[in-house]
Amino acid sequence: MKIKEGVYWVGVKDPKLRIFDVIMQAEAGTTYNSYLILGNEKVALVDTVKASFRDEFFKKIEEIIPIEKIDYIILNHLEPDHSGALPYILEKTKARVVISKNAQVILKELLHRDINPMLVGDGNSISLGDKTLEFIQAPFLHWPDTMFTYLVEDSILFPCDFLGCHYCDENSIFNDETLDFSFSFKHYFFTIMRPFKEYSLQAIKKIENKKIEIVAPSHGPILRNDPWKYINLYREWSTPKKKDYKKAVIFYASPYGGTAAMAQNIAKGLMDNGIVTEIFDLSGTGIDETIIDIIEESDALIVGSSTINGDAIKPVWILLASLATISLRNKIGFAFGTYAWSGEAAKMIENRMKDLKMKVPEPFLRAQMVPTEEDLQKSYEVGKRLAEVIKSSS
Ligand SMILES: Cc1cc2nc3c(=O)[nH]c(=O)nc-3n(C[C@H](O)[C@H](O)[C@H](O)COP(=O)(O)O)c2cc1C
Repeated sequence: MKIKEGVYWVGVKDPKLRIFDVIMQAEAGTTYNSYLILGNEKVALVDTVKASFRDEFFKKIEEIIPIEKIDYIILNHLEPDHSGALPYILEKTKARVVISKNAQVILKELLHRDINPMLVGDGNSISLGDKTLEFIQAPFLHWPDTMFTYLVEDSILFPCDFLGCHYCDENSIFNDETLDFSFSFKHYFFTIMRPFKEYSLQAIKKIENKKIEIVAPSHGPILRNDPWKYINLYREWSTPKKKDYKKAVIFYASPYGGTAAMAQNIAKGLMDNGIVTEIFDLSGTGIDETIIDIIEESDALIVGSSTINGDAIKPVWILLASLATISLRNKIGFAFGTYAWSGEAAKMIENRMKDLKMKVPEPFLRAQMVPTEEDLQKSYEVGKRLAEVIKSSS
């Protein structure tokens, strides 16, 4: 499929896919996009496809040129859905593999041999004769090795998964010929790119002065109609919402009400000291996008559970297993809960928060059986101290 003179889409379509990478809904299937660029001296391939689609992929390339004529295989990042066919294509061509500096170790572990790849980054380019490929480091979008490739003469940006989405239209690959895929586009950003908003803004800064007529991502439609609309959506979604207050959110699981009482007193300590506080009983709260939004906008995440059979209660673990789509780097964490004899839950919650690299300024707080006035006062005091930490946090 020709995109422009000498630039071809040679990707594959996977319309029946419904779940991507175990974690992500893909209601409309997906595509694995790969691009062949024919200069008058050299030939480059940008990204490959998932290994299981390699035969179809090779056929598509061979319809345009023999595979052995490829001089460069550029991998914008090494996730297997784009690098899976690499070991197989390397059996057919002596092409030089081009990767970002951050991808070196991952490539070695993918191939289990050193193939002396060309390492590129900001300011590096490759000439194909009448076409020039520039490289733009774009780490953590969404792997540390991610880079973008920019085809200067045709003003085409190949940004890998950035600006992509899981959407497959069996009739076309161009955004002006497909049905509306805005839901998939947004869902992709909020599932994959959301933890990396700062990196997203940094990458947009690097490309914003470039002439971009086409954005050719590694999944979903090629954005040739109004590509800046999509870049600007990413800019909007990545820009932190301005708020003139500090906020904490408390979740608790408490069959008999003791942990709930601690939660209320922690909340009071926070609120009396200027922190906007929301509180949720996990027995009636499903963890959906709204809850994730609330956690993302909160400066502190406070979680309590009573101990049941040596563990925290299941909804707590569901909550703590649902945070992968947001950045927790600057979030303050605190754990608490009541117990009768062994009381493991609060410590487990605290450990999980530390493992998620949250800041945990106060050790967990526990009360045995029914919290006493003293326990509730301690809860209030810890809320007060947390308020001070939250106020001084960035
Ligand atoms: C089925 C069940 C199992 C429990 N297992 C433990 C346990 O392993 N260790 C412990 O310290 N307390 C255990 N407890 C006691 C509770 O943690 C304790 O009653 C706690 O104060 C209840 O907190 P809540 O008032 O917030 O619901 C268990 C309680 C129940 C009902």
